[in-house]
Amino acid sequence: MTNQSILRLALLFCFSTTASCINYNLLRLQQRNCNSACQDLLWQLNGTSQNCLKDRTDFKVPEGIRQPQQFQKEEAILVIHVMLQQIFALFRRNFSSTGWNDTIIKNLSVELGQQRDRLETALEEIMEEENFTWQNMTTLPLKNYYFRIWRHLKAKSYSRCAWIVVRAEILRNFSFLARLTDYLRN
Ligand SMILES: *[C@@H]1O[C@H](CO)[C@@H](O)[C@H](O)[C@H]1NC(C)=O
Ligand SMILES: *[C@@H]1O[C@H](CO)[C@@H](O)[C@H](O)[C@H]1NC(C)=O
Ligand SMILES: *[C@@H]1O[C@H](CO)[C@@H](O)[C@H](O)[C@H]1NC(C)=O
Ligand SMILES: *[C@@H]1O[C@H](CO)[C@@H](O)[C@H](O)[C@H]1NC(C)=O
Ligand SMILES: *[C@@H]1O[C@H](CO)[C@@H](O)[C@H](O)[C@H]1NC(C)=O
Ligand SMILES: *[C@@H]1O[C@H](CO)[C@@H](O)[C@H](O)[C@H]1NC(C)=O
Ligand SMILES: *[C@@H]1O[C@H](CO)[C@@H](O)[C@H](O)[C@H]1NC(C)=O
Repeated sequence: MTNQSILRLALLFCFSTTASCINYNLLRLQQRNCNSACQDLLWQLNGTSQNCLKDRTDFKVPEGIRQPQQFQKEEAILVIHVMLQQIFALFRRNFSSTGWNDTIIKNLSVELGQQRDRLETALEEIMEEENFTWQNMTTLPLKNYYFRIWRHLKAKSYSRCAWIVVRAEILRNFSFLARLTDYLRN
């Protein structure tokens, strides 16, 4: 049985019992695997930012996101979901100037997409049983942050240096994702 179907089963079980519903421990495990696989893949994309100093830029991380200790696990799921979705979307842009191996990008997309879908299933569950009002407050600044990253790429015509800067930024995002991942506990 795949992890995905285990999660589905667990959710089904919850519907029929009112027991606590999402298997956060399983999600944490899956998220950890995704984090490490994605980091490995990102490392394989070559290029150092040393020759690209002029293209470095401050993407201005949203304030609320700097303080992960304030998160509830539900909020952590939401934030991780947005981050994976946005990173997924970024790497669908034109990276032909980089010489990066298509297979690596493809595998990265698969990893990101799989985990994003798992989180989505959990989020749907959370939305149904709980009543959160913080969504837009949390996710809008985060989406704007990734919008600035995309705008940078676009402004630099998806140049190799622009991508190298973005790759470095995304790699650092995964240290943050690793911290968020620890919030997923039953
Ligand atoms: C991708 O960018 C390169 C230049 O880096 C350009 O030559 C090519 O036409 C672009 N491809 C698409 C589909 O936009
Ligand atoms: C690094 O990228 C360049 C393109 O800029 C490519 O020609 C080269 O094969 C890459 N090296 C490795 C080890 O992937
Ligand atoms: C990309 O990487 C894969 C696996 O490492 C390798 O088999 C393939 O030849 C590479 N493709 C290019 C164009 O370098
Ligand atoms: C991409 O994924 C395939 C299938 O999981 C694997 O065989 C291959 O080695 C991976 N390639 C890279 C470059 O990660
Ligand atoms: C959600 O919370 C608000 C305010 O706490 C409350 O008025 C509303 O009835 C709740 N909605 C649901 C579906 O529980
Ligand atoms: C939250 O975002 C959704 C779309 O993402 C929008 O329809 C809704 O009006 C927003 N709510 C608030 C309070 O801004
Ligand atoms: C992305 O990386 C930067 C650079 O280290 C980091 O400061 C930031 O917290 C990360 N952004 C997010 C949204 O995690």
